Amino acid sequence: MKKNLIAGNWKMNASLEANDALVRAVLAGMGAQGADAFATVAVCVPAPYLAQVRALQSGSPLELGAQDVSCHEQGAFTGEVSAAMLREFGVRFCIVGHSERRQYHGETDAVVAQKAKIALAHGITPIVCVGETLEEREAGRTEETVKRQMAAVIHVNGHCISEICVAYEPVWAIGTGRTATPEQAQEVHALLRRQLAAATAHAERVHILYGGSMNAANAAGLLAQGDIDGGLVGGASLKAADFLQIIASAGRAAG
Ligand code: 13P
Repeated sequence: MKKNLIAGNWKMNASLEANDALVRAVLAGMGAQGADAFATVAVCVPAPYLAQVRALQSGSPLELGAQDVSCHEQGAFTGEVSAAMLREFGVRFCIVGHSERRQYHGETDAVVAQKAKIALAHGITPIVCVGETLEEREAGRTEETVKRQMAAVIHVNGHCISEICVAYEPVWAIGTGRTATPEQAQEVHALLRRQLAAATAHAERVHILYGGSMNAANAAGLLAQGDIDGGLVGGASLKAADFLQIIASAGRAAG
């Protein structure tokens, strides 16, 4: 059985002082739980803090992640961070296509697919986010939306698709305190799994994470679902105790 993947997405919330305390507390708690045996745990941090967090997590079971990557290799792209740069700082995971980037930065399905490809080419596992808005859900267009987003990534990445991670993040559940029920989430995860299975013989290997107000109280129910292989955790990943409780839930789901 594959380990659950619990990834924290700090978004634009960090400071040298807060990061130091948070990572030290998470590492201590992971050690006490023996988390390494049942979960892969990562924190996706703002780019300026990669070096700091790398120094804290290096040699530990906590993995380092980034929140975005340029779709270009290198060159005149002011403000962008390349996959090669992330790799130099020990980044193993990179979120791509988060709904906040699709919504506020105009990232298209094609750009997201290219970002996934460039991350893979540099040995970084992209965590590809898909999810419908409230309007799309209410119009009965959830399946169509997530399948369209996923199809673009499958099209560009071909047989490498089994190397990615997927995060189903219903936009209406992000930062709202409103969570998809375990059954609602499982339904979408299962259709994403079927879509992946049509493209690769290794769809079972792909981690499909749930994201959207996952917290210490609801994590166990979500992680108990057959096609939910972990979580992409926003707000609750900023509090060590909450994040550690979500990690512990992954252990119970595995056990
Ligand atoms: P919240 O957990 O704060 O709802 O954020 C979810 C998310 O967007 C993770 O990428």
